[in-house]
Amino acid sequence: MAYRRSPPKTDRIPERYSKRRPTIRQTWEKYINFQPKFSNRTTSVSVDPLNPLNPLNPLNPLNPLNPLNPLNPLNPLNPLNPLNPLNPLNPLNPLNPLNPLNPLKSMQTILGIDVGASGVKGALVDLQHGKLHGERFRVPTPQPATPAALSSAFAEVVAFFNYKNVVGCGFPAIVKNGVAQSAANIDKQWIGTNIEETFGHACGVRVCATNDADAAGIAEMRFGAGKGEQGLVFLITIGTGLGTALFYKGMLVPNTELGHLIWKNNKPAEAHCSSGARERLKISRTDWAKRFNAYLLHLERLFSPDLFILGGGESKYFDSYKTLLTPQARVVPAQLLNNAGIIGAAAFAAENASAL
Ligand code: BGC
Repeated sequence: MAYRRSPPKTDRIPERYSKRRPTIRQTWEKYINFQPKFSNRTTSVSVDPLNPLNPLNPLNPLNPLNPLNPLNPLNPLNPLNPLNPLNPLNPLNPLNPLNPLNPLKSMQTILGIDVGASGVKGALVDLQHGKLHGERFRVPTPQPATPAALSSAFAEVVAFFNYKNVVGCGFPAIVKNGVAQSAANIDKQWIGTNIEETFGHACGVRVCATNDADAAGIAEMRFGAGKGEQGLVFLITIGTGLGTALFYKGMLVPNTELGHLIWKNNKPAEAHCSSGARERLKISRTDWAKRFNAYLLHLERLFSPDLFILGGGESKYFDSYKTLLTPQARVVPAQLLNNAGIIGAAAFAAENASAL
């Protein structure tokens, strides 16, 4: 009887299964790295994500994500890493302006200069006690107050004190990173000019600049009428212009410029109620005080401050007009009077100039 034998098992394996199948990796390499015959394999390994020479491999020392790469922002050796001890922003860096070991921090005396629309006034400031150390020196502000002309006046004041360290400067404009952004009572050429570099070149010392009203505010908050005040405080300098400095819980909101609130006839408040306006319009101090009171009431409606501190030249006559001022907030004269701008400029430099 015919015996039907089944074929041996191996014969049943179709031809296509008999070859060894390539691994997934081999297929992938072949696909992404097509090479002409005989090319050598080094090219293909360089694209292997696991190859340490592959620039995309995070372990490749040149890969910016490699934590050991000095360009990696997290690498402590990266000079931009805030933890790098050489980074001036590192709070432990002795050159960091906030580090109490910064030599400028411990400086007891810094030259402060208040650049005003009518005079450039300077004095050495005793920063421990917040008062002038010796006499003031003043030169009239040149007219027009161009960068070149004001720089000579500034250099004259620095030379008078024969002083070689960092100088603090209060400047009558919006000041951002040392650059003037406005010029209401000085020459328009100042707009966009770096005050610190311009004055620094003229007198050969480092200069650290801030808005003049902000400087006066810093001084009053630290050493004068605003000392210990935790609420909302306005300091208003009343001079040729109207400068404002706003503090909340002792923190300055810089460059508030509320003397430029549009007031009447599309003109800023300072054109109506500054000391300059009083002189220009030839009105009595009583009439001026009534206008100024309307301005204070308006600021009060907008900001609900706890305290107004009045500084600048007009603060000297505070007693003669104080009864005409009616905001609910307390209104007091600046204790440092017209020296607040000088003292605050020096205090600003001590805290913001790096010792580099
Ligand atoms: C300026 C301010 C300055 C104020 C007092 C204003 O005209 O715009 O920046 O603080 O005068 O000098």
